[in-house]
Amino acid sequence: MTATDPKKLFVKSYGCQMNVYDAQRMADVLAPEGFVETQAMEDADIVILNTCHIREKAVEKVYSELGRVRELKKERNAAGHDTKIVVAGCVAQAEGVEITRRAPAVDLVVGPQNYHRLPDLLKQAEARRGIVDTEFPVDDKFSALPMPSAKKTLARGVSAFLTVQEGCDKFCTFCVVPYTRGAELSRDMDAILREARHLAEAGIREVTLIGQNVNAWHGKGHDGAASTLGELLYAVADIPGIERLRYTTSHPRDMDESLIAAHRDLPQLMPYLHLPVQSGSDKILDAMNRKHTRDDYLRLIDRIRAARPDIALSSDFIVGFPGETDRDFEDTMDLVRRVGFGSAFSFKYSERPGTPAAELTEQLPESVKNERIYALQALIMEQQTAFNAATIGKVVDVLIEKRGRHPGQWTGKSPYLQPVVVEHEVHTGDIVPVEITSIVANSLNGRVAGPARSAHIS
Ligand code: 5AD
Ligand code: SF4
Repeated sequence: MTATDPKKLFVKSYGCQMNVYDAQRMADVLAPEGFVETQAMEDADIVILNTCHIREKAVEKVYSELGRVRELKKERNAAGHDTKIVVAGCVAQAEGVEITRRAPAVDLVVGPQNYHRLPDLLKQAEARRGIVDTEFPVDDKFSALPMPSAKKTLARGVSAFLTVQEGCDKFCTFCVVPYTRGAELSRDMDAILREARHLAEAGIREVTLIGQNVNAWHGKGHDGAASTLGELLYAVADIPGIERLRYTTSHPRDMDESLIAAHRDLPQLMPYLHLPVQSGSDKILDAMNRKHTRDDYLRLIDRIRAARPDIALSSDFIVGFPGETDRDFEDTMDLVRRVGFGSAFSFKYSERPGTPAAELTEQLPESVKNERIYALQALIMEQQTAFNAATIGKVVDVLIEKRGRHPGQWTGKSPYLQPVVVEHEVHTGDIVPVEITSIVANSLNGRVAGPARSAHIS
């Protein structure tokens, strides 16, 4: 490396959308220090593993990946290049100093609340390996994180995530999030609107507001009065250039009237809602500390559908929670049949150290979990296929994101988050009406059925 070569940064993210957003913010905070991103780990002066702790084997996966990175560090060292290894994300938060004990090649362990301190922490790591920062500082990390240039923002795609809320106070008994991401914290409305305007001015057309418990967001409006996520969505929808809005992930208990009204009133708010229910059994919901019943959920879905009849619903499910009987599982299958999901995610319960559910004595054997997840995923797949099939012959607006796999093809997303492929001269950021003609696996093929609403991208 010559003195003029930029230093290179490689970030590998696991897990949720917030880690995708955080990875970008880490790159942004290191850009003024002269770091550019690389897709090749072997070229990197800094390797960041941005980890996830939500389910099983996450920790072991990180240690085995660290073994590979350590070898790379050795090879680069032998060739005269220094490499710093950083572990970030929720495993960093949960394991802390244990990581530097088990993997001494790690230079820095940094929890999600301290990314704004990365430049400083890396300087400390120059002098001493094994720095650990997993504090929950009182200062607002968001205000200390810079926004990237318009060009860099757009290079990441026409659809962007924007963190509005972090952490969770719900303490579902299976979940590590309240421990790794900490207590619920809402960003200020003004800061969110500033970031949203910045995204719109860069040419971003779709913004997804994200948070571990996004619909618990609360803030103050311009008049100082308390404000909800529903009201925030109205404010973001007013920003010229933002054509599409989404938010994720929500808790059924926080779906208030203003949020449901936003689905009714805002054309920018896409008709797709990810609303995890986790189980269809009241007994299991209670043991999970969800604080809602299956009936609460079903009635909520009715209200949401009354406000926005074409909404597609998605959910998360856990099968094999401790004490789940065949009858409980059948209640989950029944709930899925009643709701009819456009898509959904399902997971086998995984014991997370330190969570209350890990202490329960009635843990289920793997064979039972396997049987149940197989049945649930088959039912969900059936519903997803039916949902996709129902779009054939319809015209849907597609936000064009990038070129497709084959020459002449472009891909984008329908309002229902389905991937759509067209063969037509379009541009990234266009929103085009597309008539859906066929389905291949999970993606839809279609033909352009009218003029594009072009992006204001120069
Ligand atoms: N075991 C299995 N699934 C889990 N999830 C969270 N914690 C666990 C766990 N211990 C699932 C939930 C959540 C999603 C992000 O991950 O369904 O909604
Ligand atoms: Fe975890 Fe979501 Fe429950 Fe919070 S609401 S504890 S993030 S599953």
